[in-house]
Amino acid sequence: MNHKKYVGILLVLLTLFFIYNFHIYTDKENYADVVLTQKALRGQHLWYKNNCNSCHQIYGLGGYLGPDLTNIYSFRNQNDAYLKILFNSGIKTMPLFDFNEQEKEELVQFLKEIDQTGHSPNIHSKIEINGWIDINHKKQHHE
Ligand code: HEC
Repeated sequence: MNHKKYVGILLVLLTLFFIYNFHIYTDKENYADVVLTQKALRGQHLWYKNNCNSCHQIYGLGGYLGPDLTNIYSFRNQNDAYLKILFNSGIKTMPLFDFNEQEKEELVQFLKEIDQTGHSPNIHSKIEINGWIDINHKKQHHE
């Protein structure tokens, strides 16, 4: 048996593997650079500090005990008051939070800007020939 041949094939495959990975992990074109306002960033801070992501998904990522909240802002007709009540409602398995008015505003702002930047579920995404998923972004900047 000619082992050199197999080592050669292995090296070619490894080289292709590295080129492919280098390409997909360094190609900036496929990443949306979402820019949030300071107010929304404070909302995002509250989001992580209170572990909202352990039950809710944003852009499809997060826990599955509660619903995906990527587009909740438009789904609930951009109704700030409704969302603010929900935050402190302790509905079903959601913990009973005690956010003040300013914190509720910041959380609403976060969900509003997230809603303006992406779709979830992203049913219009296409799988490209290189295996990358062409995500259907909305826009990268809030209003
Ligand atoms: C322990 C799990 C859990 C955590 C943590 C949690 N939630 Fe929820 N949340 C839920 C569940 C379950 C529902 C669904 C209630 C229903 O079906 O009516 C919900 C519903 C909601 C809704 C209403 C969605 C709608 O359909 O109108 C909002 C808004 C929301 N959560 C925001 C938050 C925010 C913000 C945080 C963090 C501060 C948070 N949740 C933390 C479980 C959780």
